[in-house]
Amino acid sequence: MIIEWSLNGSPLRSEVNPFRRLLDYLRGDLKLLGTKEGCREGKCGACTMWVNAEPVNACLILMGQLHGKEVTTIEGLNEKDRFTPLQESFLTSSAIECGFCIPGMIMSGTALLDENPNPNRLEIRTTLKGHLCACTGYQKILDAIEGVALPPASEGSARMRVRK
Ligand code: FES
Ligand code: FES
Repeated sequence: MIIEWSLNGSPLRSEVNPFRRLLDYLRGDLKLLGTKEGCREGKCGACTMWVNAEPVNACLILMGQLHGKEVTTIEGLNEKDRFTPLQESFLTSSAIECGFCIPGMIMSGTALLDENPNPNRLEIRTTLKGHLCACTGYQKILDAIEGVALPPASEGSARMRVRK
């Protein structure tokens, strides 16, 4: 089937197998390898990206569901190959070990901060509950997201802070 959709801001018209997983299409066909493949059954969060700005598990989305939708991957967050402030915060907080889980964490963390510029620790934990990390023990990941949360007085400008 033919779908019209957008990927990281670029409109596309693509002939796709409607039953092919979004994760497989992006990693296998388009060689966009920033999104990681873990469990393939919606349990680890490694494949998290956005459809219409909402975090989803790409291993559970079929290409046939994407007509008219906007898909954003970790590659779509960076402007001119610069890290976003949240990505920089992961680095400076030493929140990255093997790095496998991090793209998914960044996608969910960015969506949270766009929605809620000053989340508390519990709200950050709740956002990340669908993400598994085998390495860090989670505390530094929570610190990294908390590190770019804005104080209440600055509410409203998180998108600039988080995405640049
Ligand atoms: S690979 Fe999609 S949730 Fe694990
Ligand atoms: S940093 Fe290795 S799985 Fe999270």
